[in-house]
Amino acid sequence: MIQPNFSTQVVHAGEPRVKPHQAITTPIFPTSTYPFQNTRELIDYMEAHLWGDETNREEYGRYGNPTVAAAEVKLAELDGGEAACLFSSGMAAVTTTLLSLLSAGSHVVMTDDCYRRTRQFVTQFLARYGVDSTVVAMGDYDALEAAIRPNTKLILSESPTNPYLRVLDLEQVVAIAKKHNLKTVIDSTFATPINQRPLQFGVDFVIHSATKYLGGHNDLLAGVVIGSNYLVSAIRDLRGLLGDMCDPHTAYLLLRGLKTLELRMQRHNETAERIAQFLAQHPAVRRVYYPSLPDHPDHGVAASQMTGFGGVVSFELETDLAGMCRFLDQLRIPYLAASLGGVESLVQPVAIISYYELSSEERAEIGISDSLVRLSVGIEAADDLLADLAQALRQAFDSEILVRTANGSSWTASPTGQQV
Ligand SMILES: Cc1ncc(COP(=O)(O)O)c(C=O)c1O
Repeated sequence: MIQPNFSTQVVHAGEPRVKPHQAITTPIFPTSTYPFQNTRELIDYMEAHLWGDETNREEYGRYGNPTVAAAEVKLAELDGGEAACLFSSGMAAVTTTLLSLLSAGSHVVMTDDCYRRTRQFVTQFLARYGVDSTVVAMGDYDALEAAIRPNTKLILSESPTNPYLRVLDLEQVVAIAKKHNLKTVIDSTFATPINQRPLQFGVDFVIHSATKYLGGHNDLLAGVVIGSNYLVSAIRDLRGLLGDMCDPHTAYLLLRGLKTLELRMQRHNETAERIAQFLAQHPAVRRVYYPSLPDHPDHGVAASQMTGFGGVVSFELETDLAGMCRFLDQLRIPYLAASLGGVESLVQPVAIISYYELSSEERAEIGISDSLVRLSVGIEAADDLLADLAQALRQAFDSEILVRTANGSSWTASPTGQQV
């Protein structure tokens, strides 16, 4: 059979051609248990389970569900993996995967720019259970290799990262991991399988917060880990023990969202690119972080291993916290909200949403500027989003910039970015 294209896979992968009652959609199975006809059937099932043989039925809702299974097959195929295991959130995917791979006395090497809760789980929570970790600067591959110890079990990273959109050189990291016999776990949430497929580079586990682009509609929480059958089965067993299974209603929403993943990502990629370019030349913007821009530290790696740069643009304004708030309050289209990856644009003041308990000085020490904004570009018309950003920048900063330009002429930024 010819390998189908992405556009076909997102619609059909994982979904049986013939479904109950000739329905075209995969049904939601809201069942907590799966009765057996008689004790013979129960014993046969238990025997098969004991010997690891395939069965075509489920036993109990915490161990499996047909709607969830359909979403898992689709997700595994999209990332080019053998198996996927779906969870109740992205964090459940991260924590269950790490708990399954690590035990007291083991050591993890992770990169610094990453989702804060992931770093917290490793450096604070796992530390309580005797798991050591070393956090190395993203992009410093010598430091990454130097941090490896005899008890190191895995390298954990994100690509692109949250919030600076750093891109990991997957080939280099996999080479280091293989040399030292380590597993690699990459959170690819910001990329999705449309923009990047880490398993093709030899990565062992890909994780996504499916809450973001995979679901795509800001209406669900889910997470997934994808890898080989053998490696994912241990994580699946632990999911049965910890109980962080994905609900079948959520799995249905995810299946539905995934069908438009490629279309949505094309729009996210295109609009984010235009917005990054517009912001990069705006006088009120100090710095833009988007991997397609030539001044991005990982532009070369991103261009060679990604097929699109994603829908998140981070940028720092030429202002302080108050100035950033003034700008955010002028925006009409993006919602002021945590999260990313949905059809609605969301804007997030990183210092406030992710690092509110730190002082301005403490934030600066860990490289988080008070004026850092993370914009998750939705699928609204690019022209409308550009016009909205332009008017908000104008309203918030016009007078300051007039003072700074000091040539006496006034300006306004047009949606296309030219000063007129
Ligand atoms: C890169 C990344 N990984 C994991 C998570 C956690 O996902 P969830 O919120 O679905 O638990 C997030 C959430 O923002 C994230 O940005």
